[in-house]
Amino acid sequence: MVYLTRIERFNAAHKLWVSEWSDEKNLEVFGKCANKNWHGHNYSLHVTVKGVPDPVTGFIFDAKKLGKLVRDIVTDKLDHSNLNLDVDFIPENLQPTTENLIVLIWKELEPHIKGCKLHRLKLVETDTIYAEYFGE
Ligand code: NI
Repeated sequence: MVYLTRIERFNAAHKLWVSEWSDEKNLEVFGKCANKNWHGHNYSLHVTVKGVPDPVTGFIFDAKKLGKLVRDIVTDKLDHSNLNLDVDFIPENLQPTTENLIVLIWKELEPHIKGCKLHRLKLVETDTIYAEYFGE
């Protein structure tokens, strides 16, 4: 089994906030991500598929097509968006954390991966934080 990873990037704004909590508690729990006037992150999404290379092309999945698929289905919708307000597949009442985003992205993307299996998503939020998801 061979694993192939395609990376796509997007920039987006968000705010982590629980409206039932005081300003102090929101700041204590979410830190700078609770900034009332939003803030942005430069995300990179690592999409790993697994399969057996085709005997003719040597591909598991054409990496160019995988990139286009990821952009069309996911990152074009997320890029330069406000994750709290703008994206149709992010529920309004869900905190747009890296952990929640990666599960939603999997649900969007997985049905479109044909001929091999989606193995892992890795969503990098900052140099020091990323989340991984394997579909369960
Ligand atoms: Ni943040």
